[in-house]
Amino acid sequence: MKFTVNTLDADKQQSDCLVIGIFENSELPMSARQVDAMTSHAIENSLKNGDFAGKLGQTLLLNNLPELASKRVLLVGCGEAKKINEASFIKIVKTAFKKLEQTTYESIGIYLTELLVPNHSIGCLVRSAVIAITNTEYSFQDYKSKQKDGLSADVVTFFATSAQDMAACEDAIREGKAIATGMTSTKNLANTPCNICTPTYIAEQAQKLGKNYSKLKVKVHDEKALEKMGFGAFCAVSQGSVESGKLVLLEYKGGEKNAPPIALVGKGITFDTGGISLKPASSMLEMKYDMCGAATVFGVMNAIAELELPINVVAALACAENMPDGNAIKPESVIKTLSGQTIEITNTDAEGRLVLCDTLTYMEQEYKPKTMIDLATLTGAVIVALGRKFSGFFSNNSELTTALKQASEQAHDPIWQLPLDDSFGELLESTVADMMNASLCRVAGSSVAAWYLSQFVKDTPWVHLDIAGTANTTGSNKAATGRAVPLLVQYLLNQAKTQEQ
Ligand code: BES
Ligand code: MG
Ligand code: ZN
Repeated sequence: MKFTVNTLDADKQQSDCLVIGIFENSELPMSARQVDAMTSHAIENSLKNGDFAGKLGQTLLLNNLPELASKRVLLVGCGEAKKINEASFIKIVKTAFKKLEQTTYESIGIYLTELLVPNHSIGCLVRSAVIAITNTEYSFQDYKSKQKDGLSADVVTFFATSAQDMAACEDAIREGKAIATGMTSTKNLANTPCNICTPTYIAEQAQKLGKNYSKLKVKVHDEKALEKMGFGAFCAVSQGSVESGKLVLLEYKGGEKNAPPIALVGKGITFDTGGISLKPASSMLEMKYDMCGAATVFGVMNAIAELELPINVVAALACAENMPDGNAIKPESVIKTLSGQTIEITNTDAEGRLVLCDTLTYMEQEYKPKTMIDLATLTGAVIVALGRKFSGFFSNNSELTTALKQASEQAHDPIWQLPLDDSFGELLESTVADMMNASLCRVAGSSVAAWYLSQFVKDTPWVHLDIAGTANTTGSNKAATGRAVPLLVQYLLNQAKTQEQ
């Protein structure tokens, strides 16, 4: 799908369908008045005769408008004008495209940016629209024997009133497309069934991605290599699986040669049975999404390579399968991490922190990053605490906290800060090793897990995002969401912009 922008008024635009937003009980917007002037007041009449009232979520398709250059007009209800905000704007865009999906149009002309959302530039709205449209159209059909057809509009055109707006829209389309592409690759990877999407598969996908971008280099360390390198905690998880664990490194060099990179780390458990501390069957469903941290990082790298951001970013995907097996690690085993700290494994189901801790140590030692952010579907407790709208956020640094909160607001990708405090460490005190990997009681599970990770970050400003509640939806409509891709791409865009100044 191609997104473009032009300055043609609604009565001049030639497309299969125009999309016009109408507020309830308000004056008609410019595009509607232009259409009305050509069509003996088709829009005004449908409001008068009660076919359409402009209520949020309502739609009305007008055809048979021979006077108009475009073939049809889709009216979309926008509710009360004073209540419009970016969230309702996105809802309006999604409603329109859900409706358009029912028929095939080659070209669509969108006039929704007339809606003027307070504190939002036209560029901001266009960027959100591009992301919302791509997400609405996404459907994962790779493993269906019969493909469902969706909307296949070739061209979606936005409307700008000035040359200045036009330039802003072009930039917005570029950013929106990159973020949407990132989300799509995250979703594709995460939706791929776990018998296909193994650590080796993720490594192959990363290598493919690297071939598409000259600034992106990919290296893979397999389980044997990791064992030699001292990844004792990582291998303690992976040893119970016939699939070889993989540490996948993606090095993006868009900035100056020696500028310290930003490091991203993703939990990539391609299936989490719990290991010997086996999960009950009902808790095991949806554990194919336990690689969503890695999938998100993968999508972010795709987006920034697409945007050619002038910064350096290194990413690590910590990929393994957590299985029960004759060779699986037993509870009460003690292992040595790459950092030298020893761990008593009290629960093999707290495996995410085990693959992550060695990876965090490695990234800090190997790349000396400026900042480090890890993403993980780490704890069920974060869903209990925050539900499914907010990703759990933890940090050891206030400046980085501010930067991420700002990016979260700009990208409309909500996070909520939870405490990181040494008192949580008391819950992990072990009688035989430096610490346990899981507490013996269930209190503050997400903070305890975050504290554990913090012991493997020495002096780097660091953020941990627990995306267990946000990375995927559940039940009969289960699917990966691509969440946290907008947040991180926004953070990196902001970094690139401050650097340019
Ligand atoms: N992958 C799970 C966390 C999870 C749970 C993600 C539910 C999404 C939905 C993680 O590996 C896990 O099993 N965590 C345990 C930790 C506990 C053993 C300390 C949990 O949350 O119960
Ligand atoms: Mg687990
Ligand atoms: Zn897990």
